[in-house]
Amino acid sequence: MLEKFKAVVIDNQNEKFTREIKEIDTSHLKDGNVLVKIDYSSLNFKDAMILKDGGRIVRKFPFVPGIDFSGTVVESEDDKFKKDDKVILTGFRVGEVYFGGFSQYAKVDANFLIKIPKSLDTHKSMMLGTAGFTALLCSFAVKAKEELLLGEKVKDVLVTGATGGVGSIAIMILSKMGYDVHAVTGKKDKNDYLKDLGAKNIIDRKEFEGESKLLEKGVWDGVVDTVGGVALTKILAQTKPGGIVALPGNAGGIKINTNCMPFVIRGVKLWGIDSSGSSIKRRDFVWNEAAKLIDFSKVQTFTKELSFNELLDVYPKLLKGELSGRTIVNPNK
Ligand SMILES: NC(=O)c1ccc[n+]([C@@H]2O[C@H](COP(=O)([O-])OP(=O)(O)OC[C@H]3O[C@@H](n4cnc5c(N)ncnc54)[C@H](OP(=O)(O)O)[C@@H]3O)[C@@H](O)[C@H]2O)c1
Repeated sequence: MLEKFKAVVIDNQNEKFTREIKEIDTSHLKDGNVLVKIDYSSLNFKDAMILKDGGRIVRKFPFVPGIDFSGTVVESEDDKFKKDDKVILTGFRVGEVYFGGFSQYAKVDANFLIKIPKSLDTHKSMMLGTAGFTALLCSFAVKAKEELLLGEKVKDVLVTGATGGVGSIAIMILSKMGYDVHAVTGKKDKNDYLKDLGAKNIIDRKEFEGESKLLEKGVWDGVVDTVGGVALTKILAQTKPGGIVALPGNAGGIKINTNCMPFVIRGVKLWGIDSSGSSIKRRDFVWNEAAKLIDFSKVQTFTKELSFNELLDVYPKLLKGELSGRTIVNPNK
């Protein structure tokens, strides 16, 4: 039986929302059949919404948030995993419905876990975390234009929310894939950072605000749009025939006001990305490709490592768009 361990616990009693670092024990970990000692978790947009007020995502309190983690199996009731296996978890509603990764231990369903590829480790895998995994899924969606659909070679790819976790890593992957990456950002002081990641060209976020025509000049072979909202209408109108728009996020709003023309005249494809529901086969494939496409020494330069205390101070900045790069959480710091 484990000693007590530390976790971030959010609660909502009598309309009063609280977040504290508490000591709990395994009797609190009611779901799942694999117990994992966590090395790292990471801070994602969804985590910040949940830490603020549950984000209308968490319904049962008290609750341990954290939508991803990496660590080592301590006990497994499932043959797929054994003690000392190194594992990654992202999504599957862990940190939303099931207790999550802002904890020194988690217990989850064996069907939610994958083994860490030999080319990665627990630190590298959470430097990527849900954001990096999503960036990989988006980049492979863009690449499908020339592979799965056997269309023309991809050349120009737009990435919105460029300084964010998904955007930053997508720029790195897409430039490694050999594409010309055009990075859209609202942060004027981040041009050098984006160029260093591999962006060829930087575009001011303002250019994707306001009304757009039914169809504009087609300039993008592919797009990774983490912003959604009004920007997406313009993006669809500017995508070349057969182009693919991968849409993982809605940092800029959920409403889109588009029309049929990009789809029926140009065959543009809007490819929704839900990393949380990806199959285990897809996860295995994508995580195994990560080391070939990502320069981890570069990711390290824009990754901050926080303790639980620091996490509770920093998460509001992410909601205000004041954080850039990746933030990993070390429960043992
Ligand atoms: N579908 C999935 O599986 C999945 C997985 C992970 C994340 N997501 C979603 O993807 C989005 C990005 O996630 P992330 O982890 O990269 O978040 P993040 O690190 O907070 O980055 C979001 C970026 O979007 C830009 N932005 C923020 N507010 C904006 C606004 N009002 N209008 C336009 N741009 C704005 C900012 O970049 P600039 O300042 O450079 O413009 C910001 O850095 C979020 O909506 C998140 O929920 C989805």
